[in-house]
Amino acid sequence: MNDTDWEVLISADRIQEGIRKLGAELTEIYSGKKIIVIPLLRGGFMFAADLVRYMDVDLQIEFLGAASYGEQTQSSGEVRLTLDTTLPLSGRDVLLVEDIIDTGLTLAYIQKLIKSRNPTSLRTIVLLDKEIRRKVAVEVNECIFSVPDRFVFGYGLDSPGGFDRNLPDIVALKE
Ligand code: PRP
Repeated sequence: MNDTDWEVLISADRIQEGIRKLGAELTEIYSGKKIIVIPLLRGGFMFAADLVRYMDVDLQIEFLGAASYGEQTQSSGEVRLTLDTTLPLSGRDVLLVEDIIDTGLTLAYIQKLIKSRNPTSLRTIVLLDKEIRRKVAVEVNECIFSVPDRFVFGYGLDSPGGFDRNLPDIVALKE
């Protein structure tokens, strides 16, 4: 997408500052534990990659993939699992890392899946909260930033066609 089409909503510096603070909190919370961190793909990959570098915790990484938007800018309302974990989650402390909660359908689906595998604990952290669009109630332990009801992308989130995930800032389409 052309960079005249969007404007920065949350700068890379602010993102890093927020993630550093959360990383320090999680380091305290999980002190002495061996945990499994699950970035939810695809959008959560960048947030998770930065977050784990701010966590001084013994951790393993697993991945889950989910898609509901396809190539559309609106959720289809139907969540598909696109990638599953390989390690058993039973008896483990699991940290689920997601880029954005919008309707809540994706996280509701993924949390149910993880809980069905009997982890000792499940904590969900999200970078961006678009609360106004929520359709289902979802328990989230921490959201770093609230975003307005605009099309946002960058820092892991894609623009139409699947591009621009590599932008270092969270940006919004100009209205
Ligand atoms: C986006 C985003 C979240 C989800 C949030 O994923 O990464 O996973 O939508 O929307 P919801 O709360 O309405 O479910 P998408 O389906 O676009 O897949 P992607 O992560 O591969 O971009």
